[in-house]
Amino acid sequence: MRETNKITALDAYPVLKDWICQHHALNGVQPKYYIRTFGCQQNEADSEIMAGILEDVGFLPGDSYETGDLILINTCSVRANAEDRFFGHLGSIKQFAGEKGGRIIGVCGCMMAQDIHRNRIEQSFRFVDFLLRPDQISSLLFMIEKGLIHKSVYYTEGHTSKFHENLPISRQRRYRALISIMYGCNNYCSYCIVPYTRGRERSRHPNDIIQEIMHVAADGIPEILLLGQNVNAWGKDFKDHKQQNFAWLLSKVAEIEGVCRIRFMTSHPKDLSDQLIETIGSIEKIEPHVHLPLQSGSNRILARMNRQYSREQYLEIVSKLRRARPGLSISTDIIVGFPGENLPDFMDTIDVMDKIRFDSAFTFIYSPRIGTPAAEWYNPLNRDIIQERFEHLVKLQNEHSLNANQKLIGHSVEVLCEGISSVDITILSGRTADNRLVNFIPRNMNGTNVFSKQIPVDDREGEFIPVRITDAKTFSLLGEEICH
Ligand code: 5AD
Ligand code: SF4
Repeated sequence: MRETNKITALDAYPVLKDWICQHHALNGVQPKYYIRTFGCQQNEADSEIMAGILEDVGFLPGDSYETGDLILINTCSVRANAEDRFFGHLGSIKQFAGEKGGRIIGVCGCMMAQDIHRNRIEQSFRFVDFLLRPDQISSLLFMIEKGLIHKSVYYTEGHTSKFHENLPISRQRRYRALISIMYGCNNYCSYCIVPYTRGRERSRHPNDIIQEIMHVAADGIPEILLLGQNVNAWGKDFKDHKQQNFAWLLSKVAEIEGVCRIRFMTSHPKDLSDQLIETIGSIEKIEPHVHLPLQSGSNRILARMNRQYSREQYLEIVSKLRRARPGLSISTDIIVGFPGENLPDFMDTIDVMDKIRFDSAFTFIYSPRIGTPAAEWYNPLNRDIIQERFEHLVKLQNEHSLNANQKLIGHSVEVLCEGISSVDITILSGRTADNRLVNFIPRNMNGTNVFSKQIPVDDREGEFIPVRITDAKTFSLLGEEICH
């Protein structure tokens, strides 16, 4: 019955249907897809939707470019290194791409919203079948169909969709569901490409969000991650914004049965209201953690970045948050070497870092993005100075991160298990409520350590496990399961 449904869903795409049937007849198995995702969690969420669409018409998941009969690369534009890595991958796929009509190859994601990258693929990577912008993912099957018919790389300006509602989703994790609550960004930070690649802010309707979360909670996924470029602005595009804002949404999500932990990212300091701070402070299920990009500690640079807050306002928000939720952890993003950043500006960033002592930070060297205002101010001459500042900042943050982690030694924490550690099969990994990574030794039924290099420990993904912290590193904690 299910197979019949799959074929019926393909009726609108006869060439793809034929391709799938031929593949099956030749190989005796269903074709596999492989999606490689670069960039942020929003891209990961999009990849889960595209995987769902493909599985719905009969594709099976593959685990490498080589095993993918259909390959999709979901690209990121936020910094140059992600773009360079993508073109490296595309180059290496060339060798086994084969003839048009053999393996199907598509490129999607933020880079595909930019003429410059699409043109390069159309000119130099003609084995690619189709290109897809982030707002076109619901038309994936249509694009594959056209890609199979078209002699060269297929792309169309059309087929945009406001939202991707009611699409199948193939979730990659059992412990966490990624839930996009809005798309796009209106902020136009002067360094950032996102408003140009993902368009204006569009909030999903609360009923659609709540329904999706009710489904995943009923499926037993305990953790919800609400996603958006600026989640604090959710609902601003509704008529009744005062009622339905992000604080309201958080409280509604917390009421859903089966939801145990609520995470959210990314928060913009300018939109972090007192009401939201109070909500974070009063609802236990909301993680005691906020990811709050600082970007720079200098008022002069913040103004040039168009961030719309000052260092004083940022410091004030952090102290309000810490008052509202004692023990709250704070992570951040910082850019070094923004055009025009001088030593006093950089020292202002160091000063804010010393005052706040972030629990963790993603640190980036400024990367000029064509089409953004800051790219026009870029001067590549002072690279060595920027590298030096970057290393200084990373060293300082590493000290702060290690220090924050060391405070937990000897404490008991609740860890949501994410599965077996990727480096040691006798160890489990997971995260604390305040988003710290914990690698820990599980106990067996008798309460003794499960410790054998040969036998993998049980995969307890999605289970809340009490752990005693025994040691701390810069980016993780070590511990052992507590037996009651
Ligand atoms: N150069 C360096 N870092 C950037 N980010 C965004 N755009 C750039 C850029 N052009 C960083 C910001 C943002 C994070 C997701 O990426 O710190 O918060
Ligand atoms: Fe980019 Fe700024 Fe929007 Fe974040 S808030 S996505 S940094 S423009």
